[in-house]
Amino acid sequence: MKVTIDGQSIEVEPGTTILQAARMIGGESVPPAMCYYSKLKGSGGKCRCCLVEVAKGSEADPRPMPKLMASCVTGCMDGMEVNSKSSERVREARQSVTEFLLINHPLDCPVCDQAGECDLQDLSFEHGKSKTRFIEEKRTFEPEDIGPNIQLHMNRCILCYRCVMVADQLTDERVHGVMDRGDHSNISTCISKAIDNEFSGNMIDVCPVGALTDKTFRFKSRVWFNKPYNAHRECTTPGCCGKTTVWMFGDEIQRVTGRKDVYHEVEEFICNECRFDHKDPADWVIEGPREFDKDSVINQNNYTQKLETVHIATEEGILKGRDQDRKKISMPAIPLDKEQEEIFKKGNL
Ligand code: SF4
Ligand code: FES
Repeated sequence: MKVTIDGQSIEVEPGTTILQAARMIGGESVPPAMCYYSKLKGSGGKCRCCLVEVAKGSEADPRPMPKLMASCVTGCMDGMEVNSKSSERVREARQSVTEFLLINHPLDCPVCDQAGECDLQDLSFEHGKSKTRFIEEKRTFEPEDIGPNIQLHMNRCILCYRCVMVADQLTDERVHGVMDRGDHSNISTCISKAIDNEFSGNMIDVCPVGALTDKTFRFKSRVWFNKPYNAHRECTTPGCCGKTTVWMFGDEIQRVTGRKDVYHEVEEFICNECRFDHKDPADWVIEGPREFDKDSVINQNNYTQKLETVHIATEEGILKGRDQDRKKISMPAIPLDKEQEEIFKKGNL
């Protein structure tokens, strides 16, 4: 089947969604996605971030679809023509969805651990407005302790259902879900239970915002001060691939996550033992720096960009005692192999 998105055509298999086809094409036409997650069955159709305009339904029925369609749950038809980034209507709709999501989402990026790798932050950067029309108070929830490893910050949740699907599809026993209805809907455990399944930590990786964060990493560092490296270990947990990204500050591992691709989706899920219990570099075989393609604040000034010397006129007193931190941020902590070192020197790693 042939489908055309923003003027670019591609052949796809029957059953491919518009979003999947757009990802095959890549580039700016790929709609943003806050609830779809290719590794979770049945995800998508909740957030409406991925709306596109179907200008031609198919070769057999060329009529345009009257409403904008959620690309993550709309299948491609032969001869379909879709407008994504190129459509003013789509841009306006994405702006409205962003505004809608921010009605209740707190603007606490400066203190949120997800800042720098938050899909809502990226969405707001591209489609957000600098003003709000909402004068009512934001929805707030009482804090709930869901166990020793995961911090739930319900005020930030956008109800994408991804964490519920992780619990459904990866763990033996789901103890949390979406409670209540309407604007009272919230992620919670039924009778304040701890979420302690061996794969529950993956909820942190799939959460597009800072509603679920890693307690072992909480407030330790801003993510852009960490250096991500691919690492692996002989993991004996059934179902865990043992392949992770370790986030280092100097020679200290501050956080372990799954390996995320350009769409912030993990390549494979990992167990809680790998994620929370192995922060000693000796536990890991470090393979080399993790490369990111997606524009993000994490990529600014780190070793995946061209190295440049930046001189900032900072008062001397402010920097006192910070030299060690600066070295840890700007130096590769792990010796690179010869080939990587050469690339690193050229600034292209
Ligand atoms: S806690 Fe995160 S992953 Fe779960 S529904 Fe809310 S936003 Fe989605
Ligand atoms: S990504 Fe399509 S509706 Fe959320």
